[in-house]
Amino acid sequence: MNKDTRDSSARLKPGGFLANSGEATLGGRFTFPGTSLTVQRMGYGAMQLAGPGVWGPPKDPDGAVAVVRQAVAAGVNHIDTSDFYGPHVTNQILRQALHPYPAGLVIVTKLGGRRPPDKSWQPAISPQELTDGVHDNLRNLGLDALDVVNYRVMGAGHGPEEGSIAAQVTVLADLKRQGLIHHIGLSNVTATQVAEAQAITEVVCVQNHYNLAHRHDDALIDDLARQGIAYVPFFPLGGFSPLQSSTLSSVAGRLGATPMQVALAWLLHRSPNILLIPGTSSVAHLRENLASAQLPLSPETLAELDGIGTANHGL
Ligand SMILES: NC(=O)c1ccc[n+]([C@@H]2O[C@H](COP(=O)([O-])OP(=O)(O)OC[C@H]3O[C@@H](n4cnc5c(N)ncnc54)[C@H](OP(=O)(O)O)[C@@H]3O)[C@@H](O)[C@H]2O)c1
Repeated sequence: MNKDTRDSSARLKPGGFLANSGEATLGGRFTFPGTSLTVQRMGYGAMQLAGPGVWGPPKDPDGAVAVVRQAVAAGVNHIDTSDFYGPHVTNQILRQALHPYPAGLVIVTKLGGRRPPDKSWQPAISPQELTDGVHDNLRNLGLDALDVVNYRVMGAGHGPEEGSIAAQVTVLADLKRQGLIHHIGLSNVTATQVAEAQAITEVVCVQNHYNLAHRHDDALIDDLARQGIAYVPFFPLGGFSPLQSSTLSSVAGRLGATPMQVALAWLLHRSPNILLIPGTSSVAHLRENLASAQLPLSPETLAELDGIGTANHGL
């Protein structure tokens, strides 16, 4: 996207990052169930801070630090990360940018994967690997305990696969009892796996692949909403394959917004338990993404946008 297009986001909200710019501008607040952790619904995903392929340091380390600081200065208090981004890189950037962390900042990390030197993504699910993963996160983030840890099931890549996760969730529940983890979430899971984990420990959030065009989790989102559990879509903008749709572009044009802003606004409207963690390495994109929380969508426009998912149903 060229600079002119990025700057068009200013039509939605005047520029500038006001300190703690207020809940109304970031989608309102959400409290993770059974916790004292309250976050703005518009958060930030740190994966894009690592180098290409989520490997190694970023090309512009100062720029990465600036993005994180801008997010927090704008009122973001929910950051998603993992020690296997980089590996270690995004956590180290978060620490450099924000430590000592401001009160109220909730950092959510994930366990269950590792990155061998061939840069692939492999499961790391033995009790020792999960325990080591907690200590790696603590060290690289500079924390004594982790707010929320998602057990990320490697499954079938970016999609879940049925199979018991009881052994791994039990290890996390033990680490929670030891005080190293405060709360537990799940990532890349099926409804059956959520129920299995809930029989072992309280689950405060689920992070799965979901966006305007990829709606396999519609029923799960509604079920979690009834339970007050957060649903945090990864790839909210399409991830490695950015969302593209003529309907999305036409709605965006009509509203004086960008397609990415409309995609994020649609997610905020989709269900009150949805929390957003769009990823970006760019301050201009961050600004555009945060401004989407102020984009009203009429029932007619929502229905039009819903048609994108219906057209993709089953893909
Ligand atoms: N649990 C899991 O398995 C899992 C998997 C993937 C991701 N995640 C988490 O979810 C977060 C979000 O996912 P993601 O970062 O992979 O995908 P995403 O948020 O859907 O999209 C990120 C991509 O969109 C671009 N982008 C961001 N804002 C934009 C804008 N306003 N206009 C145009 N392009 C824009 C980014 O490039 P620029 O850097 O150039 O802005 C990047 O290429 C991650 O940061 C990570 O924390 C979790």
